[in-house]
Amino acid sequence: MKVLVIGGGAREHALCRSLSLDPDVTALHCAPGNAGIAEVAELHAVDVMDGAAVARLATELEARLVVVGPEAPLVAGVADAVRDAGIACFGPSAEAARLEGSKAFAKAVMAAASVPTGRSYVCTTPEEIDKALDAFGAPFVVKDDGLAAGKGVVVTDDLATARAHALACDRVVIEEFLDGPEVSLFAVTDGRTVLPLRPAQDFKRALDGDEGPNTGGMGAYSPLPWADPKLVDEVLETVLQPTVDELRRRGTPFSGLLYAGLAITSRGVRVIEFNARFGDPETQVVLARLRTPLAGVLLAAAEGRLADQPALVWRDDAAVTVVVASHNYPGTPRTGDPIEGLADVVAQDAPNAYVLHAGTRLADDGGTVLSAGGRVLSVTATGKDLAQARKRAYAAVDRIRLDGSQHRTDIAREAAEA
Ligand code: AMP
Ligand code: GLY
Repeated sequence: MKVLVIGGGAREHALCRSLSLDPDVTALHCAPGNAGIAEVAELHAVDVMDGAAVARLATELEARLVVVGPEAPLVAGVADAVRDAGIACFGPSAEAARLEGSKAFAKAVMAAASVPTGRSYVCTTPEEIDKALDAFGAPFVVKDDGLAAGKGVVVTDDLATARAHALACDRVVIEEFLDGPEVSLFAVTDGRTVLPLRPAQDFKRALDGDEGPNTGGMGAYSPLPWADPKLVDEVLETVLQPTVDELRRRGTPFSGLLYAGLAITSRGVRVIEFNARFGDPETQVVLARLRTPLAGVLLAAAEGRLADQPALVWRDDAAVTVVVASHNYPGTPRTGDPIEGLADVVAQDAPNAYVLHAGTRLADDGGTVLSAGGRVLSVTATGKDLAQARKRAYAAVDRIRLDGSQHRTDIAREAAEA
């Protein structure tokens, strides 16, 4: 089958890599892609926010399946436009993607479905904001209601900082602080049947020891040796299935990838957030462990046939990914710097370690790879356990040279030593 992937980050590189290894995929296209994706897929220029343009491209390419990676086009209705053109699309409708696009909507769905989450208030006036901040006390959790590319959430002990962020949002969700380790659990769903993937953990803060500002994610690993083996079943039963059932009941079924961001608190599992798409960088480690060919699973979800899908098959391997970011990320990043050493990773670390590209592009010479974003590379490795995967990932990171770049040195360290 011919597949078109929309997006151009490391998540889309991971998706394209898996799809390129699927014998059922006869042609792989990506728009807009990046320098790394160009090695496994044919790239096309498209405005990913323009549903009509994406649908036209998919029609021209005779795509059997379109996979929409990022949240912004999903919230904007790009999956609807593709489906309206008669092409199967992996990704929720604009209505269902509100689960990510509006935190207040997500809270309302969770309340209706009795899904465990932090207590919260939706506020639009300074009076409501002050009342909510006062009700919860520090640490304060203040979330912009709308999409904010990972920058909408402020968690702080400082009342003035919390208040200032809340006042800067049109509509804000103020929430109880949830303590405990975080888990990302993804599920593929066709709106009825829910197929959970393996859990992963993401490292959100910029610096070692979870210091520094929040980022899009600086690394991830899977499996989680410290997690309760019953966690996936429990989250399926208490979070994923009820949420999917509630959206179907509302007449806006969610089909695509449902991402539950969870806190494992002393009082049990709580949902921190839902996303309507694969997470980045967790996808890099989850897909590294999936043995079942990916295209068939995504197509079955897009076509409402997941009930017939055999159980997913997983490798015993562990996987770790380390994000290499530009100078000054998550602030305005420095871009346009050459990246060296990529071929050394292929020569010395493949197939156990490989580089997935996030913000990269080819220079006009057609050979040099340049940094082109905040998160530049997601260096991914597998191994018999986390310690081996981690060692391989960092060995590969050490071969890469990008002036001024930064990465965390403690991805998966605690879990590997446990
Ligand atoms: P989100 O964009 O909702 O994932 O939030 C970004 C990060 O903020 C999460 O990964 C958490 O680390 C943190 N966070 C969000 N909500 C809470 C909460 N209620 N309690 C504690 N930390 C939170
Ligand atoms: N890894 C966090 C996210 O994808 O939102």
